[in-house]
Amino acid sequence: MIFRQLFEPVSSTYTYVLASRQGGEALIIDPVLERIDSYLELFNRLELRLVKAVDTHVHADHFTGLGALRDRTKCSTVMGRESAVDTVSMRVVDGDSIDIEGVRLDVIYTPGHTDDSYSFRLADRVFTGDTLLIRGTGRTDFQNGSAEQSYDSIFNKLLKLPDETLVFPAHDYKGETVSTIAEERAFNPRLQVGSVAEYADVMNNLGLANPKMIDVAVPANVTIGVAQSAEGDDWGLTIDQARAWIKNPDVILIDLREEAERRKEGVIPGTLQVPYVSLNDQVLPSGVLNQLAHGSNKHLLFYCAYGERSALAVETARNSGLGDAAHIMGGIDAWKRAGALLED
Ligand SMILES: [Fe+2]
Repeated sequence: MIFRQLFEPVSSTYTYVLASRQGGEALIIDPVLERIDSYLELFNRLELRLVKAVDTHVHADHFTGLGALRDRTKCSTVMGRESAVDTVSMRVVDGDSIDIEGVRLDVIYTPGHTDDSYSFRLADRVFTGDTLLIRGTGRTDFQNGSAEQSYDSIFNKLLKLPDETLVFPAHDYKGETVSTIAEERAFNPRLQVGSVAEYADVMNNLGLANPKMIDVAVPANVTIGVAQSAEGDDWGLTIDQARAWIKNPDVILIDLREEAERRKEGVIPGTLQVPYVSLNDQVLPSGVLNQLAHGSNKHLLFYCAYGERSALAVETARNSGLGDAAHIMGGIDAWKRAGALLED
């Protein structure tokens, strides 16, 4: 397995890169905007294809690299359901998994530092974001933080993981790089409390100044989606336009989501399934979508969860000469909110 812990010194942020093999798919956790070029260089050197960029929560102390990585690599962006960001490609909840080739992250909802904080577990290790730090815990005094929720997330979820589980946080300010669940239970000074009230008392009296960048970083970090015009345009269809379009037998409706998303959220009737990660191959001259568009004169209409992957797919298709590809703005989420039909 390929595993990298990368450090950004201005905000003392750790970013993690995971891949099952050289030349394979990669995933990145908590990328920092200013470091994008160095991540891309690493992917290049290891011949990795970035397919998912994940943030543990909306960060207040640095600019997220999610949007820039998506724009540069067409990767999917992933955050928790509660994150107040305009658009990400996929949203996860507790119990979900985030999958790439050969790597599966188990999603654990760990609110408290913020109400959108998640941890991600991979076999022998857990990425704890700002929920559990090395000899510390994430502050709980802004972004809908809650000391009580932090206690619950740490004591009832993270500390229940096997003792030897490696703890990889999103920050460290003293140069520590990794810990374990057993070590934090025994030596983390914030966790040496007898009750939730005692913990809340500690957390509510830290007297910390706001992060220097909070007023600029949070607004920037919640507007990272691909621009999608509300009225629709040649490529982006509103739900009403899409409903009219799919009555045309020459329109092929293509679902770009993963199997788990389809099972959970439902499917628009008459859909062809082409997972977003395989799209590049499918629009090549030898690919199914290319043959449908060129050989059979079909019009491609993409959709996904929120309209982000489908907007990127239109770009990819058009770059491959499939000039009239379009997508459903807002994805299945908008489709469902409009009360449109789903497959039984
Ligand atoms: Fe944070």
